[in-house]
Amino acid sequence: MDNEKKFARTLVTTALPYANGPVHIGHLAGVYVPADIYVRYLRLQGENVMFVGGSDEHGVPVTQRARKEGITPQQVVDRYHKIIKESFEELGISYDIYSRTTSKTHHQFAAEFFRKLYDDGKLIEKTTKQFYDEQDGKFLTDRDVEGECPYCHHPAAKGNQCEDGCGRDLDPTELINPHAKDSDHPLVLKDTTNWFLPLNEYEGWLKEWILEGHKEWRTNVYGQCKSWLDNGLQPRAMTRDLDWGIPVPVEGAEGKVLYVWFDAPIGYISNTKELCEAQPERWGTWQQWWQQQDTRLIHFIGKDNIVFHCIIFPTMMKRRLCDARQCAVQRVPEPRGRQDLN
Ligand code: MF3
Ligand code: ZN
Repeated sequence: MDNEKKFARTLVTTALPYANGPVHIGHLAGVYVPADIYVRYLRLQGENVMFVGGSDEHGVPVTQRARKEGITPQQVVDRYHKIIKESFEELGISYDIYSRTTSKTHHQFAAEFFRKLYDDGKLIEKTTKQFYDEQDGKFLTDRDVEGECPYCHHPAAKGNQCEDGCGRDLDPTELINPHAKDSDHPLVLKDTTNWFLPLNEYEGWLKEWILEGHKEWRTNVYGQCKSWLDNGLQPRAMTRDLDWGIPVPVEGAEGKVLYVWFDAPIGYISNTKELCEAQPERWGTWQQWWQQQDTRLIHFIGKDNIVFHCIIFPTMMKRRLCDARQCAVQRVPEPRGRQDLN
């Protein structure tokens, strides 16, 4: 795979499954078993390899499951983290660490990561209008708003996308007759402030780094990145109005949490940190694994994860961890089989 360069160490990660249900055979076949085979192969070759996994315990999918079952999000993730972890153990997936994004190490590390970006002025503060349920006293996520699609007039388009109609990305305020997905509560538009990562400012760097520097990425991964880059990038919200997740570590941000796709990939780093701190003589420091040029980083991911691993996470790391090209070299194998981790 990497005949052109010798690396001192290889870090292999697998997409952190949402702890809102058990893992399925498709996940195992598409991501976890191939990663495990690859890691075992490297170990047999005598390479210095670390294999990192964990559960993704924040985000809307967990809150939806909690609502359905009438339990708390914490109870949901406690239950499914245990089930998923045991499945991997029984199957013989040979992680060096399998942790979780509700760990103390992760909460601290992800909050600091955000705070550093914030303090360095790397995030944009933007106030937007969002649908608010006055009866429940909370903002709705884009997916929880439904209405008629303004383009194809499908009667039940989601606020983020016309999933069952024309497939266009939407803004919930574009919907005709917007209403809550699972209640008949009246909705109002209310101002809310969130913090955005200005991906557009990194377009030049990303084009060079990906399109010139990573031609070896699998063709569908490379192709999807190219199409994103050709279409132009927009600032992307890194915080959400939600009550489950890592609180935004900024004064006045009560009731807001870090966007799950901000905190989850940081989980790769905090899980590395957790392992290094537990066994420093064996593993060294997390910085060696994440900030040195002679580390090779390989993500095993699902199809719907590409933009997060190839565009957003690298931009976050470039800003936070490394000013020049100190990031580990990333290789992203083509995801196979796994359609959707949800
Ligand atoms: N939980 C996500 C999914 O199931 C994957 C998260 S991968 C990570 O699709 F990078 F965020 F960790
Ligand atoms: Zn449509």
